Amino acid sequence: MTAQGMKRGLTSYGDAEFSLFLRKAFVKAMGLSDDALARPIVGIANTFSDYNACHGNVPKLVEAIKRGVMLAGGLPMEFPTISIHESFAYPTSMFLRNLMAMDTEEMLRAQPMDSVVLIGGCDKTIPAQMMAAASADVPAVFVPVGPMLVGHHRGETLGACTDCRRLWSDFRGGRITADEIDAVNGRLAPTAGTCMVMGTASTMACIVEIMGLALPHSASIPATHADRLRSAEASGRQAVAMAESGGPKPSEVMTRAAFRNALVVLQAIGGSTNGLIHLTAAAGRLGIPIDLDEVDALGREVPVLVDLKPSGRHYMEHFHWAGGVPRLVHELADLLDLDARDVCGTSLRERLAQLDTRDAQDVIRPRSDPINAGGSMAVLRGNLAPRGAIIKQSAATPRLLQHTGRAVVFDSVDDMAARIDSPDLDVGADDVLVLRNAGPVGAPGMPEAGYLPIPKKLATQGVKDMVRLSDARMSGTAFGAIVLHMTPEAALGGPLALVRDGDSVRLDVAGRRLDLLVDDAELARRRQDFEANGARGAAPVPTRGYAALFHRSVLQADEGCDFDFLVPGRGSR
Ligand code: FES
Repeated sequence: MTAQGMKRGLTSYGDAEFSLFLRKAFVKAMGLSDDALARPIVGIANTFSDYNACHGNVPKLVEAIKRGVMLAGGLPMEFPTISIHESFAYPTSMFLRNLMAMDTEEMLRAQPMDSVVLIGGCDKTIPAQMMAAASADVPAVFVPVGPMLVGHHRGETLGACTDCRRLWSDFRGGRITADEIDAVNGRLAPTAGTCMVMGTASTMACIVEIMGLALPHSASIPATHADRLRSAEASGRQAVAMAESGGPKPSEVMTRAAFRNALVVLQAIGGSTNGLIHLTAAAGRLGIPIDLDEVDALGREVPVLVDLKPSGRHYMEHFHWAGGVPRLVHELADLLDLDARDVCGTSLRERLAQLDTRDAQDVIRPRSDPINAGGSMAVLRGNLAPRGAIIKQSAATPRLLQHTGRAVVFDSVDDMAARIDSPDLDVGADDVLVLRNAGPVGAPGMPEAGYLPIPKKLATQGVKDMVRLSDARMSGTAFGAIVLHMTPEAALGGPLALVRDGDSVRLDVAGRRLDLLVDDAELARRRQDFEANGARGAAPVPTRGYAALFHRSVLQADEGCDFDFLVPGRGSR
């Protein structure tokens, strides 16, 4: 039988009894009694950081979780891990996700704990913790920090960060003044908590809830509400039950059925495209492949039902009062595997039987009246994306989903930033903006640069959306006819590297195609040129530290951008 509590994972001194003696001597320095040290130990991963405003309520959550653990007779042991905020991560938060996953995994393994409560929220934190939990396989309960409350400005409801982008575009286009954008800046994020639209943070919170890794409603209770603390307390209690019984372990909850349910919900909530990368990475840790063709097939079958920005109108607090994920399960019942079980051992079917659906609401639509019958995300293939590309069609201008235009190419994020607003840029509203060398290796870290700004001279003419292509990601909060995750990326010789200014590009979302209309002989000539001269615009190859490890080991978007050596059986890239 595996050792429990303080006897777990003893430090190697060659004498187990001495190791335990020494461990107890040090832990007693914190005033703990022998009675406390004999209890089941629940680790609590504290991701509070002054650099992570979204996690501003974490100290209160830790307190509530500890209360739950102690009320149930366990010993809570709080420990820090890396915390990542979207706006405070250079060069991009995705560059650090795998580092947080490694940190969390190794701390779960290195420190004695019978179960763990993982507090996550801002975009990359829950994904990193899912990857870590899957690999360490310590019984785990997730506690999302919860969404912010909405802001208000001149009678309008505002939310980070769909409205950040929309109003910034209005400012760039000269439709609002510098004074007004300053006022808006103070109103977009009025409380602690994660962005309150259906961005990546909300998406991942819904995903851990539907997968049964978090308690019901924990995705949507606002960060500042008392119910958020009660949910945290209940999570602490549940972690003690799991510590005592030894399970379920993440590998028993994160099953193939649970991942499929997550993909159904991802489509139905109009979830972030980043969610697909993160799910692929977490599933990869357990040897479960996420097949892009299956994702696309689900997209055709599963309508978007949740009326939240950026696909719809409302915000997370409205989703919560409408019934949140449990109410959505009610609408999607026939598309989900209802036998999937959560950390409490309860199946979705059993939860559904207890659900009260009497509240009137218009945020979670019935199947007969979807936001978008054709799903949220579509997978594109074609000579520009042999291993696939993604478009969030529910958050795009419909007329641009079938479009052929002239390519205007930027070789890197820096090149784009330098030229996009130049009055000399040869660009029209029907052109296709192309950004390359913004993928996992080329940028590095696959920044959220796929939401290329509309060139200023077009923005001032009122142009609000254009077809944009890249090997980058985009924020889940963004809106536009934007093709992302083109794989393989340009820096590794993907066809995106061969596009030139003036080429014709055809986007055909209905046909699931993305093609460069250039003949094969010309493409072969360009390929020779690329092989001889390498990628123009890719970042220099780093030679030391984490950057070198990242460059050597990061996988492409269709493999979740995990590191090759962290995926069982993957071998080197
Ligand atoms: Fe943290 Fe949006 S910046 S969730």
